[in-house]
Amino acid sequence: MPGLLLGDEFPNFEADTTVGRIKFHDFLGNSWGILFSHPRDFTPVCTTELACAARISNEFKKRGVKMIALSIDSVEDHRNWSKDVMAFNSDAESALPFPIIADDKRELSVQLGMLDPDERDKDGLPLTARCVFVVGPDKKLKLSILYPATTGRNFDELLRVIDSLQLTAQKKVATPVDWKPGDKVMVIPSLSEAEAAALFPNGVTTKEVPSGKKYLRYTQP
Ligand code: BEZ
Repeated sequence: MPGLLLGDEFPNFEADTTVGRIKFHDFLGNSWGILFSHPRDFTPVCTTELACAARISNEFKKRGVKMIALSIDSVEDHRNWSKDVMAFNSDAESALPFPIIADDKRELSVQLGMLDPDERDKDGLPLTARCVFVVGPDKKLKLSILYPATTGRNFDELLRVIDSLQLTAQKKVATPVDWKPGDKVMVIPSLSEAEAAALFPNGVTTKEVPSGKKYLRYTQP
């Protein structure tokens, strides 16, 4: 069964969080959003991940992206563990700068395909995997990534993909391998040469290849 697909409207779920009960679409407002799940509170890799997310939360804010985490633990556990996360950052006086959803009944985790069958709690129930969903201001799913519980994510890479998503939402370009903001981008294949020339006043350069096909077109956005 395919789960949520790119372009699908993200469910407007209701959930208890560390900042009270939310309806997801109201929580997002007109912003972009990133929902990232972790397997369990009070575990090592999750602590390093959420601490990193907290340290760079201003970078998400700058990009107009609202952050929210999720695991199958209770609000009370989330609140207690948040203090460990901030202490790990040597910033124990500050609050975690984003809420955490308490999916202790695993309802959302099942609905959104977030469980990792290989990692289970003491009762044999699966833990949440490390899911990432990026949702646009139109509430549609723009990106999903799924890591197993045993592999921590790279939050700098998540900022990089958000930069790409936000750029490509505005301009008819695609970002090549290892692209970073400021680098050249590629003109999307569906644009004709005339359309590309009109849309990109900085010019379009085409790399010659043995096939003679002119598909490797770069521009500076
Ligand atoms: C961790 O966060 O360290 C972790 C959680 C569940 C399974 C494996 C690692």
